[in-house]
Amino acid sequence: MKFSNSVVLVTGANRGYGRAIAREFLNRLDEKSLLLLHSRSGAVPWLQEANDSEKSRCKIEILKGDLSESIKWKELFDAKVSDSSFENAFLISNAGTCGNIEKPLLESGHMLDEMASFWTSNVAQFIPLASVFKKKFSKSKIHIINITSLISKVNVPKLSLYSASRRARNCLLEVIASEDASLRCLNWAPGPMETEMFYYMKETMIKTNTDVEMWQNMQPVKTDVSAKVFVDILAKDEYKSGEYIDLFDVWKQEEQ
Ligand SMILES: NC(=O)c1ccc[n+]([C@@H]2O[C@H](COP(=O)([O-])OP(=O)(O)OC[C@H]3O[C@@H](n4cnc5c(N)ncnc54)[C@H](OP(=O)(O)O)[C@@H]3O)[C@@H](O)[C@H]2O)c1
Repeated sequence: MKFSNSVVLVTGANRGYGRAIAREFLNRLDEKSLLLLHSRSGAVPWLQEANDSEKSRCKIEILKGDLSESIKWKELFDAKVSDSSFENAFLISNAGTCGNIEKPLLESGHMLDEMASFWTSNVAQFIPLASVFKKKFSKSKIHIINITSLISKVNVPKLSLYSASRRARNCLLEVIASEDASLRCLNWAPGPMETEMFYYMKETMIKTNTDVEMWQNMQPVKTDVSAKVFVDILAKDEYKSGEYIDLFDVWKQEEQ
């Protein structure tokens, strides 16, 4: 399914799952659409490698910003988006980190500065971003998506910060959905995927003798496979706003 006359912003679009989501949208957007690729450094290496026909499918702009710092989102949008009258506007809040997962929380020696940076980039930054996005694209049907994780629903040793931050993100989006019925809000858990974050977690867990069997047996999915299922859900637009959906639940339902 294609998307017409839409603007899509993907945070952390330079690599990992963000890259796969951006590429999936690139294949489905039309010439009236705009793809906004957020990247911390401003570089999006895969875009250089994409061929000309891919790159000419829609307009593409890059938004540079470190999510752990104060970002002037309004100025960024105003500089890159001249006409904001799109039919649909999708904000895909994907970027993030898992934090320091080497030791149990109270043995990790986390300092307040480090904590502040983690919570700013993983949770708090979403609020000014979503707020400015909503104003900027007020003429559009707005879809706000939080890329979350199954780990937001369970307590896993060493992954306390990761789990708590994803749970907080889920909560924020649920509340936003309840505050404004005109918004389409989705918490999407994409499954374990072959990315740097996954391999860092797996190696660290095995190295520190934590849930070794589970991590050794875990079968990550390819980012583009998960991205396709995700973008199909957005295209169908049938989910309940504020809902949490996991990749494996979608696959289970399809089997029934
Ligand atoms: N991989 C999995 O198994 C899995 C499973 C469930 C959910 N998720 C979720 O999926 C999302 C993407 O994860 P991933 O696996 O693709 O991770 P990844 O490969 O480590 O990529 C993380 C992305 O976030 C960006 N990012 C991190 N901190 C940033 C900051 N301060 N400012 C700007 N950008 C920043 C990174 O940019 P740089 O390149 O500049 O660092 C990168 O683009 C995360 O929210 C994660 O929780 C992943």
